[in-house]
Amino acid sequence: MAEPSLAVRRKSRPGSARKRSRAPVQPSAVCSPVARKRPSSGGEGPPAETPCSNDSEEDMFGDYDSFYGNDSLLAQIDDIEHKYLQDKNIDIKAAGEIILGNLQSGIHQKKQDNFSTSENMLVLKADKEDAFQMNENDPVDSNQEPTDSILDDLPSSQLLYFEKMDELSAGSRISPVSERTNKCVNSSSDKIRSPSSFCEDDEHGNRPTDFSSDSKCDLFKTESLKDHLKSAMTGNAKVQTLQVSKTKQLKEAVLSEEICVARKTIESSSVDIGPFYGLPSKVKDLFRQFRGIETLYEWQHDCLMLESLQQRKNLIYSLPTSGGKTLVAEIIILRELLCRQKDVLMILPYVAIVQEKVRGLSSFGIELGFLVEEYAGSKGRFPPIKRRIKKSLYIATIEKGHALVNSLIETERIDDLGLIVVDELHMLGEGSRGATLEITLAKILYTSKNTQIIGMSATLNNVADLQKFLQAEYYTNNFRPVELKEYIKIRDTIYAVDSKTENGFTFSRCLNFKYSSNLEKADPDHIIALVTEVIPKYSCLIFCPTKRNCENVASMVCKYLKKEFRAHREKEKQDLIKNLKNIGNGSVCPVLKQTIPFGIAYHHSGLTNDERKSIEEAYSAGVLCLLACTATLAAGVNLPARRVILRAPYVANEFLKKNQYKQMIGRAGRAGIDSAGESILIVQEKDKHLVQDLINSPLENCYSNLLLELTKGMQSLLLSLVGLKQQLLSKEKSLSEIIKDGLENLIEKGLLKGRISEKDHNSKCTLTITLLGKATYKGSIDLAYCSLLYRELKKGLEGLILESNLHLLYLATPYDMTSNCSPDWMIYLRLFNQLSAAEQKVADAVGVPESFITKKASGQAIRKNVDSVVVNRLYLSFVLYTLLKETNIWSVSEKFNMSRGYVQNLLNSAASFASCVLHFCEELEEFWVYKALLTELTKQLTYCVKTELIPLMEVAGVLEARAKQLYNAGYKTLAHLANANPETLVKMIEHLSRRQAKQIVSSAKMLLSEKAEALQEEVEELLKVPTDIPGTY
Ligand SMILES: Nc1ncnc2c1ncn2[C@@H]1O[C@H](COP(=O)(O)OP(=O)(O)OP(=O)(O)O)[C@@H](O)[C@H]1O
Ligand SMILES: [Mg+2]
Repeated sequence: MAEPSLAVRRKSRPGSARKRSRAPVQPSAVCSPVARKRPSSGGEGPPAETPCSNDSEEDMFGDYDSFYGNDSLLAQIDDIEHKYLQDKNIDIKAAGEIILGNLQSGIHQKKQDNFSTSENMLVLKADKEDAFQMNENDPVDSNQEPTDSILDDLPSSQLLYFEKMDELSAGSRISPVSERTNKCVNSSSDKIRSPSSFCEDDEHGNRPTDFSSDSKCDLFKTESLKDHLKSAMTGNAKVQTLQVSKTKQLKEAVLSEEICVARKTIESSSVDIGPFYGLPSKVKDLFRQFRGIETLYEWQHDCLMLESLQQRKNLIYSLPTSGGKTLVAEIIILRELLCRQKDVLMILPYVAIVQEKVRGLSSFGIELGFLVEEYAGSKGRFPPIKRRIKKSLYIATIEKGHALVNSLIETERIDDLGLIVVDELHMLGEGSRGATLEITLAKILYTSKNTQIIGMSATLNNVADLQKFLQAEYYTNNFRPVELKEYIKIRDTIYAVDSKTENGFTFSRCLNFKYSSNLEKADPDHIIALVTEVIPKYSCLIFCPTKRNCENVASMVCKYLKKEFRAHREKEKQDLIKNLKNIGNGSVCPVLKQTIPFGIAYHHSGLTNDERKSIEEAYSAGVLCLLACTATLAAGVNLPARRVILRAPYVANEFLKKNQYKQMIGRAGRAGIDSAGESILIVQEKDKHLVQDLINSPLENCYSNLLLELTKGMQSLLLSLVGLKQQLLSKEKSLSEIIKDGLENLIEKGLLKGRISEKDHNSKCTLTITLLGKATYKGSIDLAYCSLLYRELKKGLEGLILESNLHLLYLATPYDMTSNCSPDWMIYLRLFNQLSAAEQKVADAVGVPESFITKKASGQAIRKNVDSVVVNRLYLSFVLYTLLKETNIWSVSEKFNMSRGYVQNLLNSAASFASCVLHFCEELEEFWVYKALLTELTKQLTYCVKTELIPLMEVAGVLEARAKQLYNAGYKTLAHLANANPETLVKMIEHLSRRQAKQIVSSAKMLLSEKAEALQEEVEELLKVPTDIPGTY
């Protein structure tokens, strides 16, 4: 680690000329990006739905000697807190000055406070920074354990209290810790820097000790006192490595210290601020510790310093792939959570990325005292639990983000949401998922003026349209930490892409290879020559047009590789195969079995989640050096490569779009590891001109998708607008013909009631939502299926067959998967015959007579008209039924002759859809009976594993295989994981890196504390004395 602190890297780079557009945007009415039709590209995310109350109610304290039981203490704190909160409103400024006045002598007056995000911050910021900056030469390492015997026994959280108390009382009592601390404070009072002066110091060579001492002196937390105490107590309960002192005396001493500190903290704290872009120094310490990030790139600093951000304006920023956009967003998010004390919603495009982010940010949440809540798949609560003290970071897929925003608007809590961050903002232009994102943002713009919107992307073109829509400022920069060199290959010649030249590329070199005629036939595109230039030392990705092509390329390459490739990390590759075998309950895909010994694998949606994760991890660790993958990897998890090869300029049968091309080649060049990254697009002579066009064309524009599929997106928007707040619509003076038609259509479908008159504007306000309409938008049910779903559920009420879960499964089988399902009639019949008599009645009840299946299987003509949606849906519910029984994706996919990836996908979609149906039923009194049934079914579908693994799989990113390993090693509950020692985990669990172990423990801790908090909130809500008890005044 060359540089000591997370300061700004000032080195200017060639080709990173900064462009910044600050053209003010008219705060005009919300307008969508240019409304023009574009073909839908769909998405991987499941439809929106929500979970149920499926949290297991584990008591984290069990028979532990818990501080939570101490009513009198909490009561005292409540009193103080209550009193403080009242006083705070009256004179927060005075309070801050009084407290800080004691702390600071000789305060160095800071210039302008650029980082404050609220007026309150402005009052306190400069003082606090000065007061808490540590002497960077202080020899004391914060990680060092105190040597005093009493302190040895204390958990770290309590040590922190000692320190805080000492610092706050400013010398009124001297302890070994305070002695050191005071020394730090005094000696550092003249070393205060603004964030920009950080970089200056940095250039003068701060040492890494600066970090640890900074965090040690980080006095002020944003938490309220009570919360602070709770988290300290929770911390005590969790800390394993340090022993809790059992002596009564010490406990009492600690408690009285804590109360004393608490009183003072509560009197003094208001908003947390600090020297790191308005955040405590601890934050930069955490970025260094968890991410290995030492310095901010220059653009990151500039972006964070934008005036528009200080003023909390909406912002779009755009940089090339790997430019480091995430870090900026995360700092802004932390500011909102810690300084402004508001909740934040972060929207990411795919479930896997959401889970990765939850894992990555949980450790920040634990250290900084906020909650990280997952909203993906069937996870997430609607509306979210209202937290009184801690703030929440909701990390959501597009669909879940939409449902969350709906629930916040409906419960009039949308103002709690201070910030919404959208990663990969260009998704706005992608099919129905884009429409959902657009609707979400439009609702925020209309309903919550105080919610800031930040969007980022590497591939935006019509930024002005987006700026207008989001009323946002814009920042852009060409910076890329690792230079990306683009090439194309035609025959045996490599050309460098150069858009300045006439045809778009210039000669670079001839490919050096000696192919036998056999090899030339097997590999006419010289893929082997291209990959062996980099592997096994460096990593390489080959993007292929189809799934089948991925597997073929992987097989072909390894067939012709020299034996030496096997020797590279041989043992780890064998372990990987063993691991895959475990995952597949004894089976491994034959292609993978053949390719992995050479360090090669394929990666596409045909793999199960568990397989995909193992392969990704092995690739990240360098055990695998080549992945043949489909385009989904480009937008998926972060798996960079030294060289990216595009097998052909096609995705399936469609010619590559510029956005797709940029995203794919953007995986090349690993920041901090590679000094260069390169991409090679393999082009056939016939496609040469199309590729020239591709290179010279701008990125595609991002257009509204609200009018796609017979204005379905627009209708969804109208439905939820009427449902959420009728007056929203009345604000629109002139509704276009499309809107009128859309509304009429909704009335026809029975989702809205009322009349629309062209002349009488007021009549528009008479529109109301029907119960069915409300159920539809609350359950995020596709408008095309809502009436059918209603009819099927209603029919179910007349004779739901509950001998097994087959009938319920049928009702929870997603409609949208029926169109690409073609049943194998022999299998259909076999499965039908294996059902019990009662289960066979399900087929009849839903409208698929036995005779129909028999005739189909025997190839006879069928006169009777049977709805193919129903037939296919029943077939898919057979798959789900078998899957829930056997909990083995491999055997089920064999039984039904489907790819295991498809079966996995069906399962995930069914879990999502089941919770959608649950929310649909919750709105309709007549369907009360389904609520309990669907709650349980959603849980079964979400995990589809043996019951004992479910608590472990609730932890973000712990999939079945890992859960089994953990369970077998003795980690049987969430509490086991939350209190595990990562080092021990690494030793006990095969194929688990230290980083993964730490993330598992942090995520488990976060989940546990989130559950504990929720219960605590519930208790307090129950015990609250109503203010309106009859007969009292
Ligand atoms: N200041 C920094 N110093 C060192 N590494 C950094 C810094 N900022 C970001 N990185 C690292 O650079 C890599 C790429 O960053 P990030 O994922 O944020 O890129 P991105 O701009 O979002 O790219 P994409 O458009 O491909 O998603 C990450 O591994 C991240 O940890
Ligand atoms: Mg990114």
